[in-house]
Amino acid sequence: MTKNSNHIKIFDTTLRDGEQSPGASMNIEEKLKIAVALEELKVDIIEAGFPAASKGDFEAVSEISKKIKGSSICALSRASRSDIETAAKALKDANAPRIHTFISTSDLHMKHKLQLNAEEVYQKVIDSVSFARNLCDDVEWSCEDGTRTNMDFMCRTVEAAIKNGASTINIPDTVGYSIPDEFTNIITHLVNNVPNIDKVTISTHCHNDLGLAVANSLAGVRAGARQIECTINGLGERAGNAAMEEVVMAMRTRNDMMPYNTNIVTEKLTKTSKLVSAVTGFPVQFNKAIVGKNAFAHEAGIHQDGMLKNNKTYEIMTPESVGVSESNLVMGKHSGRHAFKQKIIELGYSVNDNVIEEAFENFKSLADKKKNIYDEDIVAIIDDQVIRINDSIILKDLQVIAGTKGPQQAQINLMIEDKLNNITSSGDGPVDAIFNGLSKLVPHNAKLLLYQVHAVTEGTDAQAEVSVRLSENGKTVVGLGSDTDTLVASAKAYINALNKLIVKREKSAPAKMSGV
Ligand code: KIV
Ligand code: ZN
Repeated sequence: MTKNSNHIKIFDTTLRDGEQSPGASMNIEEKLKIAVALEELKVDIIEAGFPAASKGDFEAVSEISKKIKGSSICALSRASRSDIETAAKALKDANAPRIHTFISTSDLHMKHKLQLNAEEVYQKVIDSVSFARNLCDDVEWSCEDGTRTNMDFMCRTVEAAIKNGASTINIPDTVGYSIPDEFTNIITHLVNNVPNIDKVTISTHCHNDLGLAVANSLAGVRAGARQIECTINGLGERAGNAAMEEVVMAMRTRNDMMPYNTNIVTEKLTKTSKLVSAVTGFPVQFNKAIVGKNAFAHEAGIHQDGMLKNNKTYEIMTPESVGVSESNLVMGKHSGRHAFKQKIIELGYSVNDNVIEEAFENFKSLADKKKNIYDEDIVAIIDDQVIRINDSIILKDLQVIAGTKGPQQAQINLMIEDKLNNITSSGDGPVDAIFNGLSKLVPHNAKLLLYQVHAVTEGTDAQAEVSVRLSENGKTVVGLGSDTDTLVASAKAYINALNKLIVKREKSAPAKMSGV
């Protein structure tokens, strides 16, 4: 894809760079779920992981390669033959595999991180790219810390990578240091000075440390880049990566100034954003562009008045174009099984009859408690159900004493591998009492890193959706739970996290590598 085409490939790295952000680790089922959503979005390339980094990453890349056939699947590897071989193995079943190999090229990284001189790095570029090219037809090469790299050296290494078989050249702004004009100049310099650069796709990979990741990516496109590496919700190391929803909607909305197109089904952006947020437990800030809760809210009277006359007065894109619809009042206590099943299909789920049956029971009991049931409520019920399918620890009953006079108490009945266990515990507040009781019933050394509650819909009778992040010996998990009772939702989320922790302990994969 050369400079003359106006098609921009979208390379999503939510499952690789996104997952590297502290606390965002995901299990295989969660990664598969996100990979399916990315395929539905019509992402061109999914970077599914870094197979040499851990057994879990290897498995994830391998499972995603088996399941996803509509997008290319990419695996990251350092400039080492064994990393590259591991990546190729993990990609064995992919329809369109890509190996992405990288090495740092800035003086700072070469000296302090790699402890190699420029010539040694240059040789590694040749060796790694040619080795990867022998194992895979589609090879991407990245010069890590590209934006702080000497331009002559960058041109030499890019030329070597192309000569040895790379078909995508990625220029990372690894530490989010660049500014748009500078990034344009870097890409322009490559376009004007590297032989055969017109035969490959130039790619951007911008981090957001100065809040410029999206602007830099678009500046790169202006200069000739035709692939943008990005993540859903801008997830990623430190301040994150360029947010996919922002780069895509910027090009779509300002097509007059940026006449480029992508394959992305923008109507699915909001749904995918919610999925990534739920799985990682990373909330989306209310005023986040495109996918924030307030991105299409008009509070000020003068704005509302304008909107009523013509929505173009204050809306540069429609909420529908990114998949935001009015909260749909869907069902009530008299809705039947058939209508419920139809609704689930309409919401994009394909779940088996057992799940539907149990979800229907939960829907009925929710309808008894809550006057209005919205799409979001149904989504919460199904998600809550699906999340718990493989759990070996299940909440059977919870009674809590809360109020101004402490200590608050929790009575918990828990089914642990088909055996009923109960406990009465106290704590500094009802949530603390519940979590203390659960920790006694399921002993662990995990630290609670996050406890977060949000309401699924408006109103005091809304369901609460709780996320809990636990970390034990470097292994991080996120548990989710929803219920109209916030304390029950909290217990469910904590139990879901414990279930995941147990699975992680059993798999006991080696710790992730740092320094990528
Ligand atoms: O930020 C970075 O430099 C990276 C590379 C591995 C592409 O993530
Ligand atoms: Zn990165």
